[in-house]
Amino acid sequence: MTRPGSGTYTAVKPGATVAADVSWQTLALGSRAGLGAELERLVEAPPPEVIPLSSGFLDERLQPLGLLAAATARAARRPQGWNRLPAQGLPELRAHFAAEAGASFTAANVLVTTGGQAALSAVFRHLGAPGEPVIVESPTYVGALAAARAAGLVLVPVPGDAQGVLPDALEDALDRTGARLAYLQPRFSNPAGVVLAPQRRGPLLEAIARHGAFLVEDDWMRDFDLGPPTPPPLASADEHGHVIYLRSLSKPIAPGLRVAGLVARGPVLARLRHGRLSDDLFVAPVLQQAALDVLTAPGWSRHLGSLRRALRERRAALVGAIGRFLPGCVLPPTPPGGVHLWLRLPDGCQDTSVAEAAAARDLLVSPGREYFAGEPPGEFLRLSYAAADPPALLRAAEILAEIVGAGAPVTG
Ligand SMILES: Cc1ncc(COP(=O)(O)O)c(C=O)c1O
Repeated sequence: MTRPGSGTYTAVKPGATVAADVSWQTLALGSRAGLGAELERLVEAPPPEVIPLSSGFLDERLQPLGLLAAATARAARRPQGWNRLPAQGLPELRAHFAAEAGASFTAANVLVTTGGQAALSAVFRHLGAPGEPVIVESPTYVGALAAARAAGLVLVPVPGDAQGVLPDALEDALDRTGARLAYLQPRFSNPAGVVLAPQRRGPLLEAIARHGAFLVEDDWMRDFDLGPPTPPPLASADEHGHVIYLRSLSKPIAPGLRVAGLVARGPVLARLRHGRLSDDLFVAPVLQQAALDVLTAPGWSRHLGSLRRALRERRAALVGAIGRFLPGCVLPPTPPGGVHLWLRLPDGCQDTSVAEAAAARDLLVSPGREYFAGEPPGEFLRLSYAAADPPALLRAAEILAEIVGAGAPVTG
């Protein structure tokens, strides 16, 4: 119906979409762009045609899917699976995590979290305040860098070598910055694959204790010894509550099982428990129960055995293929476990350019610069053998050789 004097109207056709005008958000959001954007690639499932050397998660062939399906079905049938439970987590699962961290811990020392990432985020947000320093080994896990930045912390990178972080450099950083928080991965660090040497453990713990600081020990590769056993967690040698130990199940089981344990001693645990309550109350009981059932199933040690066999085979395939096809690249001594190799590119090659060229050929690799809090000291690629089988790893090295080698270096 028309009404004289009411102006003209343009009818929107049914089904037509009007582009939303979200330009107002630019002003409302201000400038914190890019926080955690690099993590999107970490959790994106790669399309089937792609060779995923950028993923530290196991591919489905190596995940204990049978154990997981049975455990989850059982957990879902129990009424407790859908109820509230102690906010710190399922007591039996906490006892399991406590025993892994060291003989002096009990279930009371453990807080169950929604995976390792949520634990890191909680530690940085609830123990640090914006503007405060946090010490990180260099290079280190992109997700830890992102979580620390999101918490407003100032990253203080500390160098290491083939034996792990340098205790003197850590002490120096503690002295200079007054940091009360440090984040390390003593076992098969992500990305460099380094194990902290036994002789550095005491001096490092002493430096942390002298400075009244907390050390977050991210034991993300706990189950991934592929050779002689690596030393027990630093937490097991810490008597006075300096170490906050983190153990996630995403790597040895499956990325979708969002369950991890934080182990700590003293009032810091209450701080974290209260902080986590304000974050998301508690972790789905079904997942906690399923996780416990998988860890205590008779098939668990069989799973770990076949996982390690497969990873040894994959690692050998990748190391061999790099030696054969990429002689201009430098590979440090093969780590005795873990899921990554840390490859130094020849002079003139830029990590991001190589990664882009590889992606164009359906090969995903991680450019090294993302793992440094500051300027990288060289050009590196992180290559994971968790999600690709030996033929795919061989093909990956061939593709990289074609990009990097043959006198055709890629420069940025
Ligand atoms: C070193 C390290 N810590 C923690 C995490 C977090 O993993 P999640 O949240 O799946 O436990 C990752 C994931 O890749 C990692 O590499």
